[in-house]
Amino acid sequence: MQAKLVLISRSPIPPRATWPQWLAENDSDNPTSQKIREVQQLEDLGAEVLICCADVTDYQGMERAIAQAHTQFGGIHGVIHGAGVAGGGLIQLKTRAIATEHMACKLQGTLILDALLQDCELDFVVLFSTLNTVQPAVGQVDYCAANAFLDAFAWAQTAKRNSLTISINWDGWQKVGLAAAAARDPRLANNYRNFDDFLSPAEGVEAFARILHQPFPQVLVSTTDLQVKLQETRSEFDNHPPDHTPTPTKASLTTAASTPTTTIHSRPNLSIPYIAPRNHDEQTVVEIWQNILGIEPIGINDSFLELGGDSLIATQIVTRLREVMASHLSVASLFETPTIAMLVASVKESRQPKSPTPDSQSNEREEIEL
Ligand SMILES: NC(=O)c1ccc[n+]([C@@H]2O[C@H](COP(=O)([O-])OP(=O)(O)OC[C@H]3O[C@@H](n4cnc5c(N)ncnc54)[C@H](OP(=O)(O)O)[C@@H]3O)[C@@H](O)[C@H]2O)c1
Repeated sequence: MQAKLVLISRSPIPPRATWPQWLAENDSDNPTSQKIREVQQLEDLGAEVLICCADVTDYQGMERAIAQAHTQFGGIHGVIHGAGVAGGGLIQLKTRAIATEHMACKLQGTLILDALLQDCELDFVVLFSTLNTVQPAVGQVDYCAANAFLDAFAWAQTAKRNSLTISINWDGWQKVGLAAAAARDPRLANNYRNFDDFLSPAEGVEAFARILHQPFPQVLVSTTDLQVKLQETRSEFDNHPPDHTPTPTKASLTTAASTPTTTIHSRPNLSIPYIAPRNHDEQTVVEIWQNILGIEPIGINDSFLELGGDSLIATQIVTRLREVMASHLSVASLFETPTIAMLVASVKESRQPKSPTPDSQSNEREEIEL
């Protein structure tokens, strides 16, 4: 392999002259030691490697790195944009700042690379996206959005420049990278039950080589039948509450919803005045909300979101409503009809018998707010 490679990341790596000493003094699983050994392996195979420390969202830093690459190698002929950070967290709890930070290296980073390399005659630009843009994952709204940007960018570039820009929607990888690290985390292991189906590094390398020889701007890489996978994901969302913690069982949810919250807070200052329940149904729902949200009193026009409700709390409330009021409400209904008065009206409506039609049966899937 005679490749000339420029490897850019934010983490600094010690100067080459100190590598033997570093490797001798640090464990073999030290991340920096691993990077050094991987670079050495590439060089043993005949590659020339330039290591640069830069943040892809920092225009000046990237400008310096690219200038260094030009000086050392004379030109740049291809780009693999693999910078990414794991997002994570329910959308209701995510602030704009958190989402922006998670998305920056794919959004800003791609635009900065595009701006800095526009005068280079590139043979290829490869953007590392994820299968999650078509196979949604709970709590990954910013990660999915950032990768969806890569997909759209590849299509737009192909249309605009007729150059080879490819977004690869990778399935999860075994052994290396973000997913492998997350799967080792016991708190996240529940999201990686299909880890054995992930791509082996050898499969990933083979897929990459094949993708470079095809003309499409977007390629989805799935280790198993994608249609089956999408159907499985849909039924997973139908049957399980959206949370990053291990999925609670029905029994644990019931217990959580039935057990009074020990700390009760007084009603916060809300945008609308307090209105007491007017009938038995409203009183029942008020008690369920107070119990689960730990706030008292709650008025019938108080907004679920203003009271701090999120998807997990909504799941508990809906589970309890199903038990106590035999309702068929979805988790989404807490967000669509976010007050007790509206919810009771929905419960009454949901109790009305409906004549089953083929269409209504096929629409029975519950929507879960992410
Ligand atoms: N692993 C998977 O299963 C999988 C699946 C689908 C898609 N992908 C995508 O594939 C790409 C590579 O993922 P990976 O799993 O190999 O992750 P990884 O091992 O964490 O590699 C990501 C690299 O991006 C660098 N980076 C992050 N933010 C950066 C920034 N602002 N500027 C410059 N470098 C930055 C990181 O280094 P520093 O932190 O030192 O900057 C790291 O070297 C990601 O875009 C990911 O979304 C991965």
